[in-house]
Amino acid sequence: MFDAPGEKAEWVRRMFARIVPAYDRVNSVMTFGMDRRWRRATAAAVRPRGELVLDVATGTAELAFELIRQGARYVVGVDFVTEMLAVAHEKTAASANATAIQFAAGDALSLPFADNTFGALVNGFLLRNLIDLPGAFREFHRVLKPGGRVACLDVTHPPGMLRPLSLAYFNHVVPLIGGTLSGDFAAYRYLPRSLNELPDADGLAQIMSDAGFSAVGYKLLNFGLIAIHVGQK
Ligand SMILES: C[S@@+](CC[C@H](N)C(=O)[O-])C[C@H]1O[C@@H](n2cnc3c(N)ncnc32)[C@H](O)[C@@H]1O
Repeated sequence: MFDAPGEKAEWVRRMFARIVPAYDRVNSVMTFGMDRRWRRATAAAVRPRGELVLDVATGTAELAFELIRQGARYVVGVDFVTEMLAVAHEKTAASANATAIQFAAGDALSLPFADNTFGALVNGFLLRNLIDLPGAFREFHRVLKPGGRVACLDVTHPPGMLRPLSLAYFNHVVPLIGGTLSGDFAAYRYLPRSLNELPDADGLAQIMSDAGFSAVGYKLLNFGLIAIHVGQK
């Protein structure tokens, strides 16, 4: 789909900037509201209570809000699309979380934070968009404090007999719902294609181990179409 990694990164950036206005609504409709449950499980996996947590690719800050609900002391949300961050700011300012969440522009592949800064780190629906997965996990490892936990939520390659059903939904229904609600069919056709470039759940766990994480594992949800990968520095 892309000739060079840089081309993909730029396409991803422009695509997310375009779909910001419809982003939350499309997510909620095309997942039948289950995205909230997945974010709850992702936040819980890093045991955020009392921690300074980094939400990489925060988007409209839904995962950041969930971390605060689960007792995180402070959340920093980072994203490389300023249009997403503008919505995140607006939502945060209008909520009770205004003093507990802060946002920063930055790339997951070169995080603007010092080594050993965060007690926990999460990301939601980021991994398929990256042009250097091992590099991203090395960055996550670098900015975490020793003992800090990571949890990554994303679509994965569904295993077994339910694979055809899950893929039919993801390849055909999701682009239709997303395209119709957002008016941007190209963005939501990219979604299933982006999965092709992601390793399967075991492959991703191996990348995490190679980056230095221990206690690596994953949990599959929704007929194996959704994975939450966890690890510890
Ligand atoms: C599908 S959205 C997910 C947003 C949010 N985490 C959620 O759970 O709804 C993906 C986000 O990743 C961001 N993103 C993609 N690649 C990135 C990168 N290399 N560095 C930082 N943010 C990135 C996009 O701008 C977008 O906001």
